[in-house]
Amino acid sequence: MPTINNVTIIMKEHALKANRRSFLKGGLAIGGMALLNPQKALATGNDRQDEGLKILAGPYLQTNFGNSISILWITNKNAASWVEYGTSAENQDQKAFGKSELGLKPAGRINCVTLDHLKPGATYYYKIVSKEIKDFQPYKLTYGETVTGAPASFINTDTAKDSVSFVMLNDIHDRPRSIPHLLNLDKGNQKDFVFFNGDVFDYQTDEQQIIDHMLQPCTDLFAKNLPFIYVRGNHETRGKFARDFSAYFQHVGHAAFTLGPVRFVILDTGEDKEDTHPVYAGIVDFDVYRQEQARWLEQEIRSKAFKSAPFRIVMMHIPPRYSGNAHGAVHCTEVFEPLLNKGKVDLVLSGHTHRYKVHAPDKQANHYPIIIGGGPQEGTRTITRVTATKKEIRVSMLDDSGKEVGSYLVSKK
Ligand SMILES: [Fe+2]
Repeated sequence: MPTINNVTIIMKEHALKANRRSFLKGGLAIGGMALLNPQKALATGNDRQDEGLKILAGPYLQTNFGNSISILWITNKNAASWVEYGTSAENQDQKAFGKSELGLKPAGRINCVTLDHLKPGATYYYKIVSKEIKDFQPYKLTYGETVTGAPASFINTDTAKDSVSFVMLNDIHDRPRSIPHLLNLDKGNQKDFVFFNGDVFDYQTDEQQIIDHMLQPCTDLFAKNLPFIYVRGNHETRGKFARDFSAYFQHVGHAAFTLGPVRFVILDTGEDKEDTHPVYAGIVDFDVYRQEQARWLEQEIRSKAFKSAPFRIVMMHIPPRYSGNAHGAVHCTEVFEPLLNKGKVDLVLSGHTHRYKVHAPDKQANHYPIIIGGGPQEGTRTITRVTATKKEIRVSMLDDSGKEVGSYLVSKK
């Protein structure tokens, strides 16, 4: 959120929380599932000994492309889990497990199985399987029941394709109804992924919040079949569950990958206030983190993959300029802008300000356009659609009524 001074921050955060409370009171249901107040969330995991084994969320797909895709799901009890998959709908004859660590296969509740060496452009059919670990003795493990997810499929995107398209959502702020609402404005359009550019939540409370406010609406709508990519905003760094949050995702940090004519670079911009601000109570270290991100970006812009791509798109929650004078915003300009200019970036996509806006390139500042999505209130929410070919990048930003409120065309020089 925009941070002009501390008073503004506190007032706006109170307003956000009040909105969230009234929203939750409404008893909204998504996908037949009541949205629970995270404060009153059900106990998770092995606390529920009397229940049978259940899939609490998923499967949901995440990827950074490169013929690899991760399938994630959550069970209510510890289990041995795997994915059965193949290129035929009738016969999924391959089996993949989560990553072994020190020779041990995972045996928990939060599952992430990565399928590698996939065939470019092929359709894969898969199902998730979990077998309950009922009793875990040193020399005798007893399995309970097995649960299997419904068959699903996805296309392994060919990274050599001629064009790429995706949509960006940002600043949902614990309003899960916004996810289907905005994505339905793009219904029927082909896309390679959905990108969440931070602040899906106000702050991290518990697992149930992650399920109800993101994973369930995503799985209901698209994520069984189409991957999402997600980078943290400043709000995902807050709350008592912020240190557990990344376990629910294949990846939520910085990344770079090539898809079609575009080199994508994702930066994690951290918090918006100074590390010494009392609300962080001395347990954050984002100045150092942003400097590390900048060093990584410096290496990335020197890479062959970055230099040889027809286009370079950078996605980061706090924009590298135009988001006020708070410490984090100013530090983003300081550490990232010179590198983005040096790397001749073609486009930056951001959120954070809660005011949608298209900023044209400026020779004295950002040499590239910065497109900022809006949100989270009704009337200010946006979905930003991007399509890139070898010749051009087209950006179209729609508000939540479906009206185009911003557009931009980057042509190959
Ligand atoms: Fe935000």
